[in-house]
Amino acid sequence: MVTLTINAKQQQFDVPADMPLLWVLRDVAHLTGTKFGCGIAQCGACTVHVDGAPLRSCITPVAAVAGKAITTIEGLSPDGSHPVQRAWAELDVVQCGYCQSGQIMAAAALLAKIPAPSDADIDQALAGNICRCGTYPRIRAAVKRAAELG
Ligand code: FES
Ligand code: FES
Repeated sequence: MVTLTINAKQQQFDVPADMPLLWVLRDVAHLTGTKFGCGIAQCGACTVHVDGAPLRSCITPVAAVAGKAITTIEGLSPDGSHPVQRAWAELDVVQCGYCQSGQIMAAAALLAKIPAPSDADIDQALAGNICRCGTYPRIRAAVKRAAELG
């Protein structure tokens, strides 16, 4: 049994200690906003926050995050009003959408650390989040817009 705090709610899960956090989120907790892309920490689709920092949930054993604060895209704001979500909608960033919850979580973590990031800050923070649709220019613009809204 593993006790996790997901989106401010503490819950117990009867899962193996080495099960990847992503599996628990999607298949057990039914929080499917976090996506499976590569499974080997190469794409960023599975990005969640753990104690405020971005983390690849596909390679993180669930036991490693017991007792920590896990935030998924569903928990970023109760109503989609987080500045990053508002900026994403305003600039119509999303194409197919598959990578986008990971992009948004990475961007939110960046802005929590650096409220007015430079292009270099954005490129560095989001370098590991792959978008097969090539939405990178809109992502960069939306991070800057989120910084204004924040
Ligand atoms: S699914 Fe985790 S980094 Fe690709
Ligand atoms: S919007 Fe399609 S993969 Fe990024």
